Amino acid sequence: MLPTAGNELSSVNSKECKENIIKFEMEYNVSLKIIGMGKGIPERCVTNDDLAGFLDTDDEWIVTRTGIKTRYVCTYETLTDLSVTAAKQALDKANLAASDISLIICATLGGDYRTPSHACTVAEQLGTTCPAFDINAACTGFVYALDIASAYLEAGKAKNILIICAEMMSSQMDWNDRNTCILFGDGAAACVVTAGNALKYTSLSAIADTTILNLPVDTGNNPFIAEKRGKAYLQMQGQEVFKFAVGIVGKDVKHALETTGLSPEQIDYFILHQANKRIIDSIRVKLKQPEEKFPVNIDKYGNISSVSVPLLLSEMLDEGKINPSDTLFISAFGAGLTAGSCILVWE
Ligand code: ACO
Repeated sequence: MLPTAGNELSSVNSKECKENIIKFEMEYNVSLKIIGMGKGIPERCVTNDDLAGFLDTDDEWIVTRTGIKTRYVCTYETLTDLSVTAAKQALDKANLAASDISLIICATLGGDYRTPSHACTVAEQLGTTCPAFDINAACTGFVYALDIASAYLEAGKAKNILIICAEMMSSQMDWNDRNTCILFGDGAAACVVTAGNALKYTSLSAIADTTILNLPVDTGNNPFIAEKRGKAYLQMQGQEVFKFAVGIVGKDVKHALETTGLSPEQIDYFILHQANKRIIDSIRVKLKQPEEKFPVNIDKYGNISSVSVPLLLSEMLDEGKINPSDTLFISAFGAGLTAGSCILVWE
């Protein structure tokens, strides 16, 4: 088993970010493997031209600056619908019934209800009675969820764990703000994990910074607040997030390779968070690796926060692109500011 390690983020974007670093260092006695994946995507595909119909933007700007051509947006579907579809596919591929699941972890910025948790709304549809809870690590949610699942498996507290990443970004952003709404899409992806040896390395971090990327909550109709805050939307300083992303992913790759003794050439795929094609290209160029090792789905789906990475993984599996013994480096970053990376040697 290769060692696991935490991150040292103090030199990353240190001018912009308070150096409040949460560091995790864990060594697993039992790791995990993914035994089934699935996805749930809304029906409505929205093109850049659709957006240009009501925003001051155009296809050329969006494609050049982000790599996004289309995204999928909920119209009649609930996030629970998408999540249940993804979960059922993952269970089918794992040859398991919902009753075989001993824990449900859902990574989301928010489900159809603030409470119950999204994990519980999905559990209701699946008919499970196992523990179910949400985590919010923004776009890094999938890596955080894998890490939590691994700890449960190591402790012997679960046998088969269902991880669901689900985001309805369309309800979180201001459709009048061309700086943000062009970037995101909706969707869900799920996987079933069980004890195994695929997960070789995990690194999670969180730098406390609420200024460059946040989504405030409203104040409701509390009569004791003079200045009420109405419906608020995702706020982002795009260039600051861009700089953070390039810095942290570069540093996470370096740390992972140094810790595990792997070279970039020994990684079959770098599966990176799909926030901007230019961020992915920048990492690829630094590592001097071929484009085919950096799969993308941002062109089709936009940024679906925690869903982007597991959706990409799920589709690569469906397309037969991932084979046993393939070494995958996974890395994500998002609001928090959170970041996480892991190495999986596929089983
Ligand atoms: N269409 C046309 N013009 C636009 C648009 C648009 N959709 N959006 C912005 N512009 C304009 C701006 O107004 C600006 O015009 P000006 O020069 O007249 O002021 C110009 O284009 C350049 O704007 P920039 O913000 O400098 O554009 P930039 O090249 O930085 O690209 C972008 C913006 C795409 C947001 C980029 O900064 C980015 O991808 N940042 C990272 C975002 C990210 O990673 N988010 C992930 C986290 S999300 C999460 O965790 C939930």
